[in-house]
Amino acid sequence: MKNVSIFGLGYVGLSTAVCFSSNNINVVGYDIDKSKVDMLNRGIPTIYEEGLEELLKVSLKNRKITFTSDYKEAIIKSDITFITVGTPSKEDKSIDLSYVESAAAQIGEALREKNTWHLVVVKSTVVPGTTEGLVCRTIEKTSGKKCGLDFGICMNPEFLKEGSAIRDTLNPDRIIIGEYDRKSGDYLEDFYRQFYDNMLPPVLRTSLINAELIKYANNAFLAMKISFINMIANLCQVLPKSDVEDVARGIGYDKRIGSLFLKAGIGWGGSCFPKDLAALKSFSRSLNLDLPLLDATIIVNEYQPINAVNLVESKLGSFKDKVVAVLGLAFKAGTDDIRESIAIKLVEELIKRGAKVKVYDPAAMKNAFKKLGDQVYYAKDPLDCVSNADCAIVATEWEDFKKISANQFKEFMRRPLVFDGRRIYNPKEYENEVEFLAIGLGKKESEIPKTRIGASLNPSLAVNAIVAKEEGILLLKRKNEPFKGFWSLPGGFVEYGETVEEAVKREVKEETGLTVEPEKLIGVYSERNRHPGRHVVAVCYSASIKEGEVSLNLEENEEVKFFRFIEIPKNLAFDHNKMILDYLRIAKKHEVRNF
Ligand code: UGA
Repeated sequence: MKNVSIFGLGYVGLSTAVCFSSNNINVVGYDIDKSKVDMLNRGIPTIYEEGLEELLKVSLKNRKITFTSDYKEAIIKSDITFITVGTPSKEDKSIDLSYVESAAAQIGEALREKNTWHLVVVKSTVVPGTTEGLVCRTIEKTSGKKCGLDFGICMNPEFLKEGSAIRDTLNPDRIIIGEYDRKSGDYLEDFYRQFYDNMLPPVLRTSLINAELIKYANNAFLAMKISFINMIANLCQVLPKSDVEDVARGIGYDKRIGSLFLKAGIGWGGSCFPKDLAALKSFSRSLNLDLPLLDATIIVNEYQPINAVNLVESKLGSFKDKVVAVLGLAFKAGTDDIRESIAIKLVEELIKRGAKVKVYDPAAMKNAFKKLGDQVYYAKDPLDCVSNADCAIVATEWEDFKKISANQFKEFMRRPLVFDGRRIYNPKEYENEVEFLAIGLGKKESEIPKTRIGASLNPSLAVNAIVAKEEGILLLKRKNEPFKGFWSLPGGFVEYGETVEEAVKREVKEETGLTVEPEKLIGVYSERNRHPGRHVVAVCYSASIKEGEVSLNLEENEEVKFFRFIEIPKNLAFDHNKMILDYLRIAKKHEVRNF
């Protein structure tokens, strides 16, 4: 068997290291953090992962694994090096490749002193082009050696999930091998054939760039699947007698769709999906390309906790002086990780709206304290959390919470209003005992408000909302004209079957109570520079306010202009969409004018 070194001992690195070493492979784990290395050498895992501690201890005992902070030692003692360092987001959400770069530089330096061929395998999630570009170049520069001749390179993405990292590593669905050359790919495939033996899953040999992209496409698709079912859940919520759980089950039986990752909830979080989707978006923008489904996936997710809070608020009236119990803080059950956790975002939203928040999580309290400080009450157990509360929200699907009965909620809470944000309760068992709300659970007919059910169904509409949010309010004031009143409709929606004109009229009415008749389109605002690769158009209307109907700070008979923003993907991916066609038709008829 080949000897292996692993650079970077986070989730992926450590899980991979102990899985290899438990199967008779000599592994050297390298990390820059000396305290981590010391702990691991003493058999203390630095992350919690089911089964990890046992495997670590066995491997240490059998002398199959050692940890070091000397990268040269790691390279000298191995034939294959896996790079598993983190690739976090920069402030602008693009990928930070600095850890990958320094790992590559260290590997190169060490390879300078090694005489035999060595295989470097990138396992970290990196944007397309990084392995052949940054990694290869850096190693060549620091080693003085030639890729393909003195060393080989592969890109081998990882698909393990937090909470089941060991299981996922030992039983992967497939192995993706992106290869610089045939020799590198053969070498890695050989290694995995020996490691998995008769358990070898399908192996896909491909280019480096495809392997890099497969990882992003995989995570983006999974996140999109969740956002999709969450969007359907939002639709269910306004339809009587509907339930997203059954809808998910129904579509999940279709083999082309599959039942996994169709659990509706308050949204997806964690250390991977948010970071990877943002990196992919930023990467495609740098290529002047829009990925509208990605935008819609993110937008649906951003609104999911807000929708949940809105729903609860509609019941409570206002959060002022109300006590809200939040059950769960981790981004999912089985972990203490709160990175990008939707539960934390939900808590922050509740605080912002004036609620007094009590929280409980079986594993993530310590991490949550670092983020939330003393803004919330940290309960001792689930029942302490819900006691005297006006509402309880299930934000993470922990087993502990499934045990809270409807009667316990009733007994302990001031007002037994339960919002199941992760669909862990059977509505039939709770509905008669407590005021029960849940993601994707249809309302009783009498409770249905007048809603725009078409609005969130269309990804391009969500894109529309993003642009409006980014742009904020544009003052409709032309250089040589005195300021006139203006209205903006950021994030407004056109309903199905409605023309743009009708939408403007309806939204103005809804938001201001004013009745307006858009008279004519007065201009189109187009800006490409601030949005490279996109075409942003604002359609402006002129309308007269009839006497007696002006109720805001406008003078009588003042001219009011209405405008909307719409982002039109350059490649017109949504050309089937009536709304986009409407905008285009209007935009074409008028000269482009800046205000
Ligand atoms: C994710 C992927 O599932 C892994 O395949 C990938 O290797 C990993 O990212 C990574 O890139 O390293 P992970 O972030 O550990 O794994 O967690 P998931 O189990 O995928 O859950 C992510 C989020 O989606 C959680 O907040 C979870 O609550 C939510 N989720 C998941 C749902 O809301 N509904 C579902 O049906 C599934």
